[in-house]
Amino acid sequence: MKVILLLSGPNLNKLGEREPAIYGTETLEDHVNSARKIAEELGYELVHFQSNSEGELVEEIQEANSNYCGIVINPGALTHYGWSIHDALASYEGIIIEVHLSNPNARETWRHTSVVAPVAHGSIIGFGGYGYQLSIKALDNIIESNGD
Ligand code: DQA
Repeated sequence: MKVILLLSGPNLNKLGEREPAIYGTETLEDHVNSARKIAEELGYELVHFQSNSEGELVEEIQEANSNYCGIVINPGALTHYGWSIHDALASYEGIIIEVHLSNPNARETWRHTSVVAPVAHGSIIGFGGYGYQLSIKALDNIIESNGD
């Protein structure tokens, strides 16, 4: 069974109550459940890890090579300055998809840079919770086209 790691960065544990006009009213658990449903339909197991700590996310990525065929990551605000996340992902050998609920490019200038995008296969931004489903489908599409 292939396993996908879904990583959630700082403040995403507050989804549902956090700035709902921007991030919607669904909780992180709702997004994880919809990602897991698609993943299982496509024949994957999905493991989710959320942390408000950059170091914990780095440690999870460091362990990922031997355990997961792909990573879907919403790094939260670390997207914009978390170079240790960038470096950890750079040495990960599987597929990486970056996902955001909002479209950071349509928001404050400091959100326009992603330090994760250069090490991701692709980024899915601005589609709200649907982005989690799209991310799993995109990851599967890459794995299938690689013939794995
Ligand atoms: C976010 C966008 C980031 O800029 C922000 O810091 C978040 C959420 C999103 O999913 O839209 O925490 O990653």
